[in-house]
Amino acid sequence: MKRYIFGNWKMSLSIKESRELAESLTSVLSGSPSEKLGIGVAPSPLALPAVSEILRTTGVHVGSQNIHWSPSGAFTGEVALETIKEVGGDFTLVGHSERRTLFGETISSAVERAKYALSENFMTIFCIGETLQEREAGQTNSVLDAQLVPLLEELSSTSKTKAPLIIAYEPVWAIGTGKVATATEIEAAHKHIIDLGQRAGVVAPVLYGGSVSPDNFEEINGIPGVSGALVGGASLKAEKFGRLVEIAGG
Ligand code: PGA
Repeated sequence: MKRYIFGNWKMSLSIKESRELAESLTSVLSGSPSEKLGIGVAPSPLALPAVSEILRTTGVHVGSQNIHWSPSGAFTGEVALETIKEVGGDFTLVGHSERRTLFGETISSAVERAKYALSENFMTIFCIGETLQEREAGQTNSVLDAQLVPLLEELSSTSKTKAPLIIAYEPVWAIGTGKVATATEIEAAHKHIIDLGQRAGVVAPVLYGGSVSPDNFEEINGIPGVSGALVGGASLKAEKFGRLVEIAGG
């Protein structure tokens, strides 16, 4: 089974710092990406051209943290797929919980973004996950259904079941908090997501995200249904990211 490690650099680094991290990754990751291991980073949009230039020959994917659902137009503050491609980007995150909780991304707007990117065969990491309140109320599965099923149904009804979709299960309460879901919680959520995919005829790898670090990833990587990780904080240090890649590669 192919495994994946993707880093989300969020708004954490300047262009200079992004270049430095990308330079360090070229040595840390040399020879890492392969048929069996997909690696990618999502820098801030203004650092994307420099980072993709530095990583051009490494096989590491470089992508955007968000994407709009139209090819172009009057959408102030948004980024178009073609523009991401122009600067060397080859994937995008969609629906990250920070977009949903801090910037008003709704279930339907996240689905629109992913639908458009996937209709263009653009690799899309679609992020879903429940808040602590929802987990404690026993609503985890219904939240995952509400976030994911509309996208799966769309792919199914448009015969796009082979579109390059990756799903990231990221419990909101585990992101940037140092709290990691238990192995049992992760396994149950991933199984639920994989089952939803199967029902729609969509096969997509499911990554775990939320305080993943070299200290906990060996265990997480071994959980059935986990195909890798989407990593925030630990992706900002080349050695830590390199170690995660090593673990994923077995
Ligand atoms: P974290 O972030 O690894 O810092 O918790 C994960 C994410 O936001 O994707």
